[in-house]
Amino acid sequence: MASHEAGWAHADGALKGPSWLREPADPNALVRHLWSSTADKSDGVLSIGGVSLPDLVAAHGSPAYVLDELDFRSRARAFRDAFSAYDVYYAGKAFLSVAVARWVAEEGLSLDVCSGGELSVAQRAGFPMERVGFHGNNKSAAELRRALALGVGRIVVDSFHEIERLAALTAELDTTAHVMIRVTAGVEAHTHEYIATAHEDQKFGFSITSGDAFDAVRRVLAAPGLELLGLHSHIGSQIFDSSGFEVAARRVLALHARVSDELAVTMPEMDLGGGFGIAYTTQDDPSDPAQLATEMSKIVEHECRALGIAEPALSIEPGRAIVGPAMCTVYEVGTVKRVHLDGGAVRTYVSVDGGMSDNIRTALYDADYSCTTASRLSTAPPVLARVVGKHCEAGDIVVKDEFLPGDVAPGDLLAVPGTGAYCRSMASNYNHALRPPVIAVRDGVARVVVRRETEDDLLATDVGEL
Ligand code: LLP
Repeated sequence: MASHEAGWAHADGALKGPSWLREPADPNALVRHLWSSTADKSDGVLSIGGVSLPDLVAAHGSPAYVLDELDFRSRARAFRDAFSAYDVYYAGKAFLSVAVARWVAEEGLSLDVCSGGELSVAQRAGFPMERVGFHGNNKSAAELRRALALGVGRIVVDSFHEIERLAALTAELDTTAHVMIRVTAGVEAHTHEYIATAHEDQKFGFSITSGDAFDAVRRVLAAPGLELLGLHSHIGSQIFDSSGFEVAARRVLALHARVSDELAVTMPEMDLGGGFGIAYTTQDDPSDPAQLATEMSKIVEHECRALGIAEPALSIEPGRAIVGPAMCTVYEVGTVKRVHLDGGAVRTYVSVDGGMSDNIRTALYDADYSCTTASRLSTAPPVLARVVGKHCEAGDIVVKDEFLPGDVAPGDLLAVPGTGAYCRSMASNYNHALRPPVIAVRDGVARVVVRRETEDDLLATDVGEL
């Protein structure tokens, strides 16, 4: 392969970092709003849920995901309370474990799963199946059969093949499936291309524009074993701007009204999906659940009035906004390297004992994160650092740019906030890394809710030579 000019990862001239990143007066200081509610660093040592991270690492090793139980529960409750007229489904794809599924049930939320694996966690947790919604653009017949046998509350169908598959299964099992239809609202959500899901050219849902969505409604209504609950729209993830939801709601409600006009069927429900953004760094400014609820209700109320239809029972599916800020990842620094760049600048590379296997989001979505030292107070001035992992790839970056104390050294602990969503759930065994544990902390007590993988776990599927 021909060599090419240095790309984005290579600094150009003086090292400034991105324009939104400000050099802090004190690099020890915690940027409060990026952390879960019980985070405290008043003495220079970071504690979460009353547990100091050095103590947690001494007991459970590093790296580890640290889950602030009270923070998780209060975010779940905040959505539940703010959207009291809606059913709130926690999107388990963001992060799911048996303990978390139980907290979700206890806080009165429903649960969105999108695979047989997530369904099995719900089952193990004893989650009430009538409060489970089952998503996915390619659910297998076995997954659908299992969902029907367990009595899940709703199945969100995503293709004509699935409608046929489900109709055949309900006939065979002599049962009824409660169905929502995933529609594509044709919205360009302002987020990373890979996590935007309502524009036309992608795999999810039935297009409203092409007429497929209306056709899907007709086919579901014609299938004796399928009971149509309503339409479902999810426009993408990590979205801050409510105008995307507004356009989507308008288009989905217009279809809802058309079904009632032309087919004389009033669908009782509608789901507007998840996707509410959180703050990973100081450049993000998310709305709180109460603001979101007010905005969304206003949009729906206004549209329904304009269309002259009754408001369907609404539901939403937040994942990231509940679990994202509730977790952080703690790592131990292994090496620090000062790399001299063209133009005389120096970049400080801080290598930690995890990386793209426990947080793929920086490499995959060019995501920004922040971090702080967790084990000691430093008097050194700040230095712009790049926190990298231990994998065999130059793109193995955890935090692209952050100011850390200039004396950051091997043995220091670093903690990255906002890693609750799509980090453990997207973790891999790349380079045969062992996926870190999830340790729930609350009132000074640390509890392992997902244990660290072992080499035996890794090798359990390697059957050797046969
Ligand atoms: N409902 C549906 C149908 C979804 O597909 C998703 C996310 C959600 C709800 C929850 O979205 P949330 O509130 O968590 O944004 N791995 C990507 C995000 C993928 C989102 C997939 N679907 C990331 O790390 O940013």
